[in-house]
Amino acid sequence: MKKKLGLLTAGSDCPGLNAAVRAIGKEVKATLGMEVVAFQDGFQGLVEDRIFPIDDTSFSGILATGGTILGTSRDRPQRLFVAGKGDIDGTENALQTIEKHHLEGLVCIGGKETQETAYYLMGKGVNVITLPKAIDNDIAATETTIGFATALETATESIDRLHSTALSHHRILIVELMGRNSGWLTLGAGMAGGADVIIIPEIPYNAEKIAEAISVRTHARKNFSIIAVAENIIPQEYVSFFGRLESANARIRVGRERESVSGQIQGFKNQYRGSTAYLANRLEKFTGLETRVAILGYILRGGAPSAGDRLLATQLGTACISLVADHQYGVMVGIHQGLPVPVPLKQVVGVPKPVPINHPWILSARRVGTCFGE
Ligand code: F6P
Repeated sequence: MKKKLGLLTAGSDCPGLNAAVRAIGKEVKATLGMEVVAFQDGFQGLVEDRIFPIDDTSFSGILATGGTILGTSRDRPQRLFVAGKGDIDGTENALQTIEKHHLEGLVCIGGKETQETAYYLMGKGVNVITLPKAIDNDIAATETTIGFATALETATESIDRLHSTALSHHRILIVELMGRNSGWLTLGAGMAGGADVIIIPEIPYNAEKIAEAISVRTHARKNFSIIAVAENIIPQEYVSFFGRLESANARIRVGRERESVSGQIQGFKNQYRGSTAYLANRLEKFTGLETRVAILGYILRGGAPSAGDRLLATQLGTACISLVADHQYGVMVGIHQGLPVPVPLKQVVGVPKPVPINHPWILSARRVGTCFGE
């Protein structure tokens, strides 16, 4: 066995990455006698052979810290932005770095794109293992992801804080949460924070229905409302409008022209979806109530990891080392029924993980009267 294991964190940062880095860094030497070669700033550091300096103290004192000591970036070897050159293909450089350091394998901790990139490198003959991280919890084949638990806590606490100001001013308060195209974080935090309305990308909304739900509250003398909204929410009218455009395009155009118009339609769709301000304006108009928006954004990625994320990251990190010991590569360490399990990367890559619309969380929320804007 070659005595070195590569390690990097890629994609967006989140709390819990350092806990995973620590688990891997501490155990790999103790159990397997291997050295860790850690790369700075994700795949960019791999391509550029930028090593994070490691000594005996490197993996101590980081369990409870946010972000990633290794640094991260969204760059991928196959499309790397270099100032003055634009996008270059750095795959060969990445492979040379792996060869140069005699890496037995490469552990990539990251989100969806990182899983894809690891799978790509696997296709080039690299022994990869991945760990799932995402405050969005949007990675397939795992019940949860590093960072989600902490973001859920942060978001819930923020919603709790918005209650008093909404109540005092008798306002509608819309809180927007990250999540890309998945509503897990908004749904979880919305429920835990007692939001009256929860809008997620999986359920296109109707602003008039939301206004009706708020009017019912007003008539019951509840003079404030909290609405948890995911980024990238979709108004129902856009679904039908863009649907009509798409089918007209499919009817009247063929080949390249159809593809190009389809691309333009997609562009408009992306531009118009996810506008929380648009929703706020319409609700103010329909209800006559003052409406304010709070965007939590990057706050959700900051801070110390929760106890749950520290436990998760430590378990995933040590499970990863067991896989290295068994030479089991080409897998992501996911969580299934609460336990770490290896999942072949091809079952992860390109597989979406939307919130199922009959998910138990949604069913419970409906039973306590939460409106989903339909
Ligand atoms: O994937 C995590 C995430 O925080 C998403 O929720 C958000 O849409 C995105 O990253 C923002 O990414 P960036 O750091 O590239 O702005």
